[in-house]
This record gives sequence, C-alpha cells and structure tokens, in this order.
Amino acid sequence: MDNDNDYIPALKYKGLTKLYDPLLKFFNAGQKLTAKLLAQAAITEGDKLLDFGCGPGNLLIQAKQKQPQAVCRGIDIDPRILKIAAEKIDKHGLNIPLKHYSGGTLPYKNESFDKVLSGLVFHHLSYNAKRKALQEIHRILKPRGKLHIMDFGKPSNLLMRLLFIPVQLLDGFSPTADNVLGLLPEIVSKAGFANVIEKDRLNTLVGTLSFYQGEKPQNNK
Ligand SMILES: C[S@@+](CC[C@H](N)C(=O)[O-])C[C@H]1O[C@@H](n2cnc3c(N)ncnc32)[C@H](O)[C@@H]1O
Repeated sequence: MDNDNDYIPALKYKGLTKLYDPLLKFFNAGQKLTAKLLAQAAITEGDKLLDFGCGPGNLLIQAKQKQPQAVCRGIDIDPRILKIAAEKIDKHGLNIPLKHYSGGTLPYKNESFDKVLSGLVFHHLSYNAKRKALQEIHRILKPRGKLHIMDFGKPSNLLMRLLFIPVQLLDGFSPTADNVLGLLPEIVSKAGFANVIEKDRLNTLVGTLSFYQGEKPQNNK
C-alpha cells in the first residue's frame, strides 16, 4: 500500500464497506474490543487523541462519550467509511473532525497528539505501509505520547492459527504475515517507539488479538 488507491478496505471489497458496521453490530464484536482498547489508553480530559484507521467511528464515539473534554480526531484512507463515520458522529451530536489519509504524510503537525489509537488496521498494511504509518504516528505524537494498537498477533495455539486463516483469505496473506509472526512490536520499536509491549491478548473466533502499547521517548524526535 503506497498510495491511497491501493489499500484494503474494511471488508476487502469497496462495495462491502457499508456492511462492515452492521456486521460488527450483528456479531456483537466491536464494542467489547473497542472498550478494551480505550481502557488501555486511559483517556483523560486533557488528552488529544487520534484514531488511525477510524473506520465507522465507533472508538471515537465511545471515547468522546466517556471523556467529553478530550479532543478526538479520526483519519482513514477509505472515503466511503469516513462518510459512514461522519454521519454516525453527527447522529450522536458530537464534534469529532475526520480527515482522509492519502497513505503518505499524516495531515497533522509535529508533536500535536497525546495518544494515537488504532484498532484492526495494521493487518491491512504492507510492511512498507506499516513502517510509513508508524513513522508518521511517531512524528505527530508529543514526547512521552502513547501509541495503543489492537490487532491480530501471534496465535496463542494451533486452533487460533487455523481460525485466523479466513481473515488471511479475506485481507491477504502478505499484509497479515507480520502479525502472525508476532512482529508488530519489533516494527513499532524500529519506528522509534520505546517500551513496546503486548499489554494483553484475547483469543477470538477469528484468531488471537493482541493489545500493544508503545511510547515516544522524551528526547527522541
Ligand atoms: C477492519 S477496519 C477497522 C476499523 C476500525 N478501526 C474498527 O476498529 O472498527 C480497517 C480500517 O483500516 C482502514 N485502512 C486500511 N488501510 C489503511 C491505511 N493505509 N491507512 C489508514 N487506514 C487504513 C480501512 O479503510 C478500514 O476502515
């Protein structure tokens, strides 16, 4: 994924994007995971946070409802899903500006966010796109700013490995390979983050989900 015409939408096919949010709801899948990622990020009222790959905006809406004083921003590469998110945010009467990502430079100033959160996005990205996105996230985070990622990680056991195959058939074996090998923390560290750890993991019907955390060092630009 090196430009915005070459990305994997939420359900792989652009025509299916509008089904992503109803499917999450139908399987009662999104809410619990989003709440877990938000709990890990421990948003405070002074925080400015970005949801990278915000999809239909569920995390942003939960974050803003939980902490109305926090400044929330969302970005996604898919204009269709951004439209869905904008309508949903509007329906909730919330003020959460969204931006379109071109796949290159993030449209935000250096050191302008306290926290960046991202759920189920990195397994959509090629190795190069992962590195580019992480470099950009590092740039826009303030020193000591935190990155919180929830995504597929190294399977906990053979069953988890097998259950992940349908996700790989949908989203591709190449972008998901780093996830399966448990390489995300290493890639995050290589982008300049310190104290990168897997905070928690969850075995699900589609494989093992890992919750990672990293920090931009105080004296490292
Ligand atoms: C499985 S969905 C997850 C959406 C949302 N974060 C959630 O938890 O429901 C993956 C999202 O990543 C977005 N995406 C794919 N490639 C991207 C990229 N290079 N940069 C930003 N977002 C991307 C897709 O458009 C989609 O909205």
